[in-house]
Amino acid sequence: MKKLVFLTGAGVSAESGIKTFRDSDGLWENYNVEEVASIDGWYRNPRLMVQFYNERRRQLKDAQPNEAHRIIGELESDFDVTVVTQNVDNLHERGGSTDVIHLHGELTKVCSERGKKCVEDIGYREFEYGERAADGQLLRPFIVWFGEEVPLLSKAAEVIEHADILVIIGTSLNVYPAAGLLYYAPSNCPIYLIDPKEVQPVTRRIEFIRATATEGMRILKEKLLTCK
Ligand code: APR
Repeated sequence: MKKLVFLTGAGVSAESGIKTFRDSDGLWENYNVEEVASIDGWYRNPRLMVQFYNERRRQLKDAQPNEAHRIIGELESDFDVTVVTQNVDNLHERGGSTDVIHLHGELTKVCSERGKKCVEDIGYREFEYGERAADGQLLRPFIVWFGEEVPLLSKAAEVIEHADILVIIGTSLNVYPAAGLLYYAPSNCPIYLIDPKEVQPVTRRIEFIRATATEGMRILKEKLLTCK
């Protein structure tokens, strides 16, 4: 089976009702992104962060995977698929994908404040600031914030290095190091990019499909199945 790798961002979940980061003037669900998505924000106002991620978890519970998530899941019948996602939602898994690398963490998990140990799956439960992890440290969201390292980066790079086909969906490619991952694709690996807006930077080898995630995946699915 050919190795098919998806690199996805917020846009793949937009049609499930989850807002993207950079389509609303630097605000993410009415919060300043720097305030709720950086390690400095955690040290400044951890209660706000806990409340913010509790809200996101509650929103995720009611969201459903869309057709793009489901097509990506179905393609496992014909390809060896890995999804590398910048998203913290679980819609790829709920759409049928079994091999998902969450570069920026997962909403349904918490961990201890220092060292991010004792990772715990809390599902959609809300947690309160002050709750402790098994090692006695404060619990925090299991999210990779600005200012923190991306522990799964080298694993993702290795997967992309072995890709036969790479598909990028719904990411503005603004945030490094994730945005640099596409350059790990082998030189003979076709790269498709699905986004309703033009995305920069785009190397000349990328085939651009200007469409939403669901429209784009419907188109691309047919194309992929002819070259499996
Ligand atoms: N289908 C596909 N793409 C879409 C759709 C849609 N229906 N709607 C919007 N998009 C595209 C936008 O045009 C944009 O190019 O999705 C992209 C979203 O870009 P961002 O909001 O910047 O999201 P992303 O690239 O995932 O952000 C990366 O930044 O804030 C951090 O850690 C956070 O993981 C996040 C990272």
